[in-house]
Amino acid sequence: MKTLILNFSNNIVNEDSFIPNKKGLTMSCIEICENKLKEVECEYEYICINKKNINKCYACGPRGWGKCLNDHICIQKDDFNNIYKQMEEYDSYILATPVYFHEMSESAKTFLDRLKRCDSFNDNSKIKGKKIIYIACAGGSGNGTENTLKAFDTLNHFLETNIVGRIPVTKLNFNEQKKQIEDSIIEFTK
Ligand SMILES: Cc1cc2nc3c(=O)[nH]c(=O)nc-3n(C[C@H](O)[C@H](O)[C@H](O)COP(=O)(O)O)c2cc1C
Repeated sequence: MKTLILNFSNNIVNEDSFIPNKKGLTMSCIEICENKLKEVECEYEYICINKKNINKCYACGPRGWGKCLNDHICIQKDDFNNIYKQMEEYDSYILATPVYFHEMSESAKTFLDRLKRCDSFNDNSKIKGKKIIYIACAGGSGNGTENTLKAFDTLNHFLETNIVGRIPVTKLNFNEQKKQIEDSIIEFTK
């Protein structure tokens, strides 16, 4: 069983954090995931999408579709195609984003826009049916967490993945949500 963790936050340290370890909230959630995955002896790999070169979708072809529709590949020569191809190797995914302006982060939107295009109409998709956990990490208000999770639901609709965790986290509920993250990871092993 192999899991791919995709991090859509660039923030390692959060000086305002209510969490004792002062890590960014998304990073703190990812750390919980990594510890639990190790505990259940699940292999995993971690990619920070913010550190990759991923451009916006150009909607390059006629009628708004490019090679993504029939060839399930993007024409752009950046890091997207490699990561998309790499996703095929995994049995489950964890997507963790900060909440910015009531939405998922910019890096999440950019990457997931292109993923939706390449995979939604791919009859041979290797992503379809795989287990997935979404984590939306917000500030104290938590405004926009549900909106972010709803956008992930839309992604799930098109990718036809199998949601086993849909987790809103704020600095204030971090400790309570830790168990929900861990329990969702146990679902990966079933
Ligand atoms: C540009 C920006 C926009 C934000 N918008 C929201 C928001 O709409 N709702 C919210 O609850 N928190 C918002 N926040 C706070 C972040 O969600 C919060 O700091 C979260 O911990 C970020 O994750 P990180 O620790 O991984 O950076 C925003 C932060 C930034 C930098």
